[in-house]
Amino acid sequence: MRTYVVTGSASGIGAATSQLLRERGHQVIGVDLRDAEVNADLSTAAGRAAAISETLAAAGGRVDAIIAAAGVSAPKAFTLAVNFFGVTAFLEGLLPALSQSSAPRVAVVSSMASLQANSEALVEAMLSGDEAEALRLGAALEEQGPRAGYLNYSSSKRAISRWVRRECITAAWAGAGIPLNAVAPGTVITNMTREMLATEEGRKLADDNVPMPLNHHSEAVDIARLLAWLTSEENSHVTGQTIYIDGGADATLRGDDI
Ligand code: NAI
Repeated sequence: MRTYVVTGSASGIGAATSQLLRERGHQVIGVDLRDAEVNADLSTAAGRAAAISETLAAAGGRVDAIIAAAGVSAPKAFTLAVNFFGVTAFLEGLLPALSQSSAPRVAVVSSMASLQANSEALVEAMLSGDEAEALRLGAALEEQGPRAGYLNYSSSKRAISRWVRRECITAAWAGAGIPLNAVAPGTVITNMTREMLATEEGRKLADDNVPMPLNHHSEAVDIARLLAWLTSEENSHVTGQTIYIDGGADATLRGDDI
C-alpha cells in the first residue's frame, strides 16, 4: 500500500483518480476546497501553507506520490494562482515528504490547451516564480474580454508543462529519484466541461478546438488510469513528459510537428 496525495479530489479527474487508487488498496489523502481529507484553498499563499502542513500531518511525514489535478478554467488571472502557483508551491512544499518514500512519483494535470495560443510573457513570468507580475499580466488580459482572458488558462498549462520539463532533471527531482510528469487531456466529461458540452454550440466549439477522432470525449477514469501508472512503482524512467491523452487531438492538430 502506497500513500498518495491527490489535489482536486472532490470532483472530476481528481475524484476518479482517488477512487481508482483506493480500489487498488492505496491510502489517498485528498486535497480540495471542501469534501476532502485536507480542505484548503491552493490559490493563496496561506491556503497552500495550510494544505502542506495538514497533508504532512495526515501522511505521517511520508508521501509516496502526488497527483496534482486541482484546477480551474476561468478566463481570469485567478486561474494562474490555482493552475500554476498552487501546483508548484504545493509540490515543492512536499518534496521532503517524498524523499521519505522508496519509490516517489509525481504527476500533474496539464491540458491540450498548453498547445493553444498563449502569452509567452505570461508563461515566463510564471516560470520565474513572480506571482505578482504574472497576476498583473493576467489581469490585463482579463480586462480585454474572454478571448484574451482565456490566455490565462492556456498559458497556465503551457507553463506547468514547461516547469515539469525544466525541473525534472534537477537535483531536487532527478537527483532525488523522483519521476515528474504531466498529462494533457483533451476534452473530459467533468464539472469543468459539463455546461459547455450541454449545448450544440458548446460541443462544436470544443470539437473544433480539440478534435478527438479516437473514442471522442473521455471520461475522468480514462485520465485516472494514466495518472495511476505514471505515479506507480512501475514507472522508473518516464520523466519530464507531457503525455497527451486526447483521442488523437495532438496528432490531428500538430501532425508531423514533432
Ligand atoms: P473539476 O472542476 O471537476 O475538478 C477540479 C477540482 O479542483 C474541483 O474539485 C475544485 O474544487 C478543485 N479546485 C479548484 N480550485 C481549487 C483551489 N483553489 N484549491 C483547491 N482545490 C481547488 O475539473 P476537472 O475536469 O476534473 O479538472 C481537473 C484538471 O484537469 C484541471 O487542472 C483541468 O484544468 C484539467 N483538464 C481538464 C479537462 C477537461 O476537459 N475536463 C481537459 C484538460 C485538462
